[in-house]
Amino acid sequence: MATITVAPSQALERILTLELVRVTERAAVAAAAQRGRGNEKAADQAAVDAMRRELNKLPIDGTVVIGEGERDEAPMLFIGEEVGQKNGPKVDIAVDPLEGTTLCAKNMPGSIATMAMAEGGTLLNAPDVYMEKIAVGPGYSAGVVDLDASPEDNIHALAKEKGVGPERITALILDRPRHADLISAVRKTGASVSLITDGDVAGVIHTADPEATGIDIYLGVGGAPEGVLAAAALRCIGGQMQGRLVLDTEEKRERAKKMGIRDARKKYSMEDMVRGDCLFAATGVTSGSLLSGVRFKGKIITTETVVMRSATGTVRWIRAEHRYHAKFQPS
Ligand code: FBP
Repeated sequence: MATITVAPSQALERILTLELVRVTERAAVAAAAQRGRGNEKAADQAAVDAMRRELNKLPIDGTVVIGEGERDEAPMLFIGEEVGQKNGPKVDIAVDPLEGTTLCAKNMPGSIATMAMAEGGTLLNAPDVYMEKIAVGPGYSAGVVDLDASPEDNIHALAKEKGVGPERITALILDRPRHADLISAVRKTGASVSLITDGDVAGVIHTADPEATGIDIYLGVGGAPEGVLAAAALRCIGGQMQGRLVLDTEEKRERAKKMGIRDARKKYSMEDMVRGDCLFAATGVTSGSLLSGVRFKGKIITTETVVMRSATGTVRWIRAEHRYHAKFQPS
């Protein structure tokens, strides 16, 4: 019989892939019990508690670099918190236990539990501020779109490479008043705009498979933590992304400085945000176009998770059935 030899660190990373799934599954199930109850805080707290509990079981020496907030404002999964059993590799962790808290509280489509893991010291340590973002999927030449180009130029450049007219391009944008000019600039090119109320991690992931999702480009300003998580996902599946932190006050620039950010106007590429190999996982809380939500059916809970690994580019869709028992309570 053929023997498959795997270097120890690689073997560990492969094993951790499934561990990530467990973490996001538990967070999603906990949050799902709070769907539609109108209580964003309770939904988020349930996801945070479950995610933290599971992270602390992992054979890793982990540090949260993208978390629930900065040390003095978040009691759990704060930036800098150490997680794991400390008997494994040094890793950076990015978490958003409930991405789309409003979506979950209102039982609207698209909320997910998500996290990424990367070699220690390789994820951008970003404060909880806004980030300008632009992302496209794989298959385009490097630099086809750019954060510093106008929306019109980006749409035309993308259409040209795709070999179509701008009217065949669809841009995904968060529906916010701050995006009014951006939306009208994109529409003026003839391109279509698909608006989302929340959830731009999934939004960016949509660009990776335009044929399936109908989305060619993500544009606009969203959360910086979500930006780093999305960059980790895109690094696994392919594509291009750029981000720039919105550090528009002295207070924000100071917070960023404390995290080692010297150039407040730096344009980060996907590779700057995630500087090495990474893993990314997301489990649906409410059903959306990316993932089905958690289902409670008798004594069985079903979850759907996507998990990705940049070293190989493998993307796994895992539909799991969990037997409802003391260890797998929804909250
Ligand atoms: P939360 O889950 O933290 O509410 O984030 C949802 C979200 O829509 C993100 O996907 C996005 O990056 C951010 O909020 C946008 O921020 P804002 O709602 O302030 O425009």
